[in-house]
Amino acid sequence: MNRVSLNNDLDLSRIIYGMWRLGDDEDTSTGQVQAKIEACLAQGITSFDQADIYGGYEAEEILGHTLKKSPALRDQMEIITKCDIVAPAGRYADKRVKYYDTSRAHILSSVDTSLKLMNIDQIDVLLVHRPDPFMDHLETGAALDEVVASGKVKTVGVSNFKLHDWTLLSSAMKTPLVTNQIEVSLGAHEAFTNGDVAYLQERGIAPMAWSPLGGGSLMGRPADDLLRETMARIAQEQQVDFASVAVAWIMAHPANIMPVMGTNNISRIQSLSEANRVEMDRETWFELYTAALGNEVP
Ligand SMILES: NC(=O)c1ccc[n+]([C@@H]2O[C@H](COP(=O)([O-])OP(=O)(O)OC[C@H]3O[C@@H](n4cnc5c(N)ncnc54)[C@H](OP(=O)(O)O)[C@@H]3O)[C@@H](O)[C@H]2O)c1
Repeated sequence: MNRVSLNNDLDLSRIIYGMWRLGDDEDTSTGQVQAKIEACLAQGITSFDQADIYGGYEAEEILGHTLKKSPALRDQMEIITKCDIVAPAGRYADKRVKYYDTSRAHILSSVDTSLKLMNIDQIDVLLVHRPDPFMDHLETGAALDEVVASGKVKTVGVSNFKLHDWTLLSSAMKTPLVTNQIEVSLGAHEAFTNGDVAYLQERGIAPMAWSPLGGGSLMGRPADDLLRETMARIAQEQQVDFASVAVAWIMAHPANIMPVMGTNNISRIQSLSEANRVEMDRETWFELYTAALGNEVP
């Protein structure tokens, strides 16, 4: 598995395993979570994506139970987590409305809670989950620098940020932002043309792609769909599974995108790295893109 360097101190596996759906699995036992982590590690997938809000603020704790039981796992993993979404659930059940909180107080307490729930001493990558329209960039930037200086967080990035959000926040930070986690898939490919990938590519920053299978919707398209037909043909020609073609399409792009995969199914987890085997030349990339667009490029 290729690795992507975020800075001199940290690199991540090219494919990341996302834990948004961890709590949706009927089995959230430490044994099952450990089996998922080990299935990833066996393929060189060492980077794991969390967020405070996942599973109604419970997914970090589910991971934490496993890391407490099997602490040796932690040394083989890089852990990404996120903060700033406050939704009326779990520890915020008393809130009247869903909102974003990028205040210093919220960032500091969110980091402490994530560390405690996951039973870890340091978060490898902390992401600001959503751009906050009420952000005081000077306060947020200083708070993010502070959690890095304290050693509680190794690196900081963002998620779902536009260029203007990125520029505003970075202007108030000493610590460079290391990534932007954005939605990219054959079902949501606008990032390749609306500037979201271009500004990261220009800066040599590797993006992360969330929901690379469109949250599963790409897998369940009707059989007469051109995109599905094209994916199926390529999968058959190259003797790989369907999902691998969709993931390889993202990874083939020169922006060095890291897909964040979300399956809970152990046998699917075991084959996530198959995407590395897919050959995706320019013509094949455009064949899939054309099928996704529904028309040829102008
Ligand atoms: N930053 C953000 O705002 C944001 C937003 C959304 C997600 N994320 C991150 O991105 C990660 C991935 O998101 P996602 O779960 O929507 O990603 P995904 O990989 O696009 O979709 C996974 C879903 O597809 C289903 N699926 C159906 N057929 C599949 C197949 N052949 N192979 C694999 N999966 C198949 C899975 O079901 P089974 O479990 O039954 O396989 C699962 O429900 C999340 O865990 C989270 O870490 C971030």
